[in-house]
Amino acid sequence: MIRRAVITGTGHYLPERVVENSWFEDKLDTSDEWIRTRTGIERRHFAAEGETTSDLGIRAARAALDKAGLQPDDLDGIVLATSTPDFTFPAAATMVQAGLGMTRGFAFDVQAVCAGFVFAMANADAMIRSGQVDRVLVIGAETFSRIMDWTDRTTCVLFGDGAGAVILEAQEGKGDNSDRGILACDLHSDGKYRDLLYVDGGVSTTGTAGQLRMQGNLVFRHAVEKLAKTAHAALDKAGLTPGEVDWLVPHQANLRIISATAQKMGLPMEKVVLTVADHGNTSAASIPLALSVADGEGRFKPGDVLVTEAIGGGLSWGSAVLRW
Ligand code: ACO
Repeated sequence: MIRRAVITGTGHYLPERVVENSWFEDKLDTSDEWIRTRTGIERRHFAAEGETTSDLGIRAARAALDKAGLQPDDLDGIVLATSTPDFTFPAAATMVQAGLGMTRGFAFDVQAVCAGFVFAMANADAMIRSGQVDRVLVIGAETFSRIMDWTDRTTCVLFGDGAGAVILEAQEGKGDNSDRGILACDLHSDGKYRDLLYVDGGVSTTGTAGQLRMQGNLVFRHAVEKLAKTAHAALDKAGLTPGEVDWLVPHQANLRIISATAQKMGLPMEKVVLTVADHGNTSAASIPLALSVADGEGRFKPGDVLVTEAIGGGLSWGSAVLRW
């Protein structure tokens, strides 16, 4: 018998303010039609003034705890993926911990931009499998609206705010791929691609938070090439084939990237969870948001094989395979 990290609860929170594509039309040289056809995005949520990343994370976390039937002090730790924390320090995860009223365990942030949730889940999975902890709350929470250049039509129409959370709990498995829980992860970074996607400020450079800069078409090419490859690598590690995949739960950056990846994996779009139209790109929050939305709709059945994949600034990218 071996230990596996099994998802026992999901939750999410989206800020109340919904912004349709048409909102940008009188501010920038853009159109609803361009945004829809080039990205698949129709609307996104933006946090209210004063509403922080940890505020979103706390609400998503409460929903996931409720779903799992747990109290905050049942958790051994919190791992929160974000590139838009409330403060330089302390970690947003510690603010979620305090906000939940959790009086024990650890809390730390993981920063791998849009791939952050996959990296955070891989960390929590390793801690659970090694026996260090039994229950971890893994959150992706972002307020990308705070780092947009509102004069740059090539970036500001793409992103949204939100948070998603999952509870990972240790369960005993047989050690083969019929087990429930995370079966394999595959993580990569290549820092030489920094200039393709970055924020032009920071603590030790400008002393400011900065704004997002992206060479979208180059990132697009890397995404199409790397996402199917990392998904295949994670499936190989799990001893599974794309034909055995029930659901692809991709990072929701662009419908064209998602479709190209599904096509490369030989998966029909009916097996792909899509939230990009309603959420836009919420960076590290997008996968847990999609997991929670689809779980809430009862789409995953026990025993289903799920594949998640994401790429973002770094570049950093990765994939995780799990059995529901
Ligand atoms: N409205 C109208 N026209 C626009 C807009 C807009 N909002 N944005 C760009 N354009 C124009 C460009 O200026 C360009 O015009 P030109 O031909 O006159 O120069 C034209 O549209 C085509 O631009 P491209 O950048 O080549 O368009 P593309 O089809 O590549 O779509 C997009 C751009 C949507 C950004 C796409 O490249 C993409 O999705 N890239 C990947 C994004 C991503 O996945 N990022 C990783 C995650 S994010 C993270 O980690 C933080």
